[in-house]
Amino acid sequence: MYKSRNIFAGPEGSSPNYDEEKVVSQILPDLLSMPDGRHISSFEEWFARKRPEIMKDYEQCIFGTSPLQAKVHCQKAGSEQVNTIKGIRAQRYDLYLSDRNIRLTQFVVFSPLNVKGPVPAFLGPNVLGNQSLTRLFPLPLSGAWTFPRPSLGIDDTGHATADSAGVHSARWPLEMIIQRGYAVVSFHNADFFPDKRDGRTESVQPLFDAYSDIPFTWGAIATWAWGMSKVLDCLKEVYSIDEKRVIATGHSRLGKASLWAAASDARFAGVIANESGEGGCAISRRKFGERISDIATHFPHWFTDEYQSFSDAEETMPVDAHCLISLLAPRPVYVASAEDDLWSDPMGEFTGLKEAAVVWKLAGKTDSEPVYRKMPRISTPLSGTLSYHIRSGGHDITPYDWEQFLTFADKFIK
Ligand code: GCU
Repeated sequence: MYKSRNIFAGPEGSSPNYDEEKVVSQILPDLLSMPDGRHISSFEEWFARKRPEIMKDYEQCIFGTSPLQAKVHCQKAGSEQVNTIKGIRAQRYDLYLSDRNIRLTQFVVFSPLNVKGPVPAFLGPNVLGNQSLTRLFPLPLSGAWTFPRPSLGIDDTGHATADSAGVHSARWPLEMIIQRGYAVVSFHNADFFPDKRDGRTESVQPLFDAYSDIPFTWGAIATWAWGMSKVLDCLKEVYSIDEKRVIATGHSRLGKASLWAAASDARFAGVIANESGEGGCAISRRKFGERISDIATHFPHWFTDEYQSFSDAEETMPVDAHCLISLLAPRPVYVASAEDDLWSDPMGEFTGLKEAAVVWKLAGKTDSEPVYRKMPRISTPLSGTLSYHIRSGGHDITPYDWEQFLTFADKFIK
């Protein structure tokens, strides 16, 4: 029935529920009560007492712990390139783990050529390597293992080929973003953790095995999120960017990472989670589209082992997606869905945001009221400190999405 709309039927062996009528309503963990049942009535109290609890649950059960204190520094790589016609400047930076001078990644900064002074920025990892972001500048091919996708220029052995240059440029409409006065900062997620089940040995994680007596429990998603924080550490050295106005931005698995990056690092001024689905903004207890069991089967390296124990037992989780979103309060958050992306559960993503909104209300952010109402129609964005849209089409990040994110950033970040 969904064939004509190009709806993902799920990986082999899974049979996702795409029928809203089969969703059994569940009681969600209450964001405003303490374990002893006491009701929380002020944002200050929520922030001081409830938030740490939710954070602890997320660290223990879902994303794992990370070495957030690790010191890094960066160095310019190559010389600055400018595209005067498009008004964009590009500069690459190598990021090093300071105490051992080990290079962890190379991030690229695209900034507006004709704007004086530091500008706000969208910071988000990419899945195919920096070379995939644009054809406007020649960027070095990533050397990190990448999931083979020959049609996108990643060969069968996981190496990027010249054909991958600019293949994801539609996902990163640089001209549009730069013209609106923002910078874009990106790096290859695989530099931190190659996206495969045995990726740990090639990841940055072994570098931290001896860092503390208690081992870090981070999965791949938390490692990408950690990479976002470490790049943010370096942005104070990048004069074109105002590091106080950086928006954690991500699509899909990287949407999950951007949520966790901003939850763990209060310096992110806002968050954009595009079609982040299960393990992101979608309420797991709805059991709609992708399930925890699917992630446990296909991407066991993404989260902690404990997360997998909630397979087919979502209601036993101490938290759910609204709790993850609440960790971002009172900052601006944009959640976006796509009509045909049922695998990510658009209604679940909207519900995650809607249920989290009580915390923004407590914080006095009454402009988030639109998300209290029902799911909006297609291409009718709800705008507020908490913003949401669902567009037509499938799982992707498109210029339409970016148009909305830019309007949101103009209002709440700029
Ligand atoms: C798969 C996975 C999702 C993920 C998506 C993506 O579909 O099941 O959880 O969000 O890939 O990253 O595109």
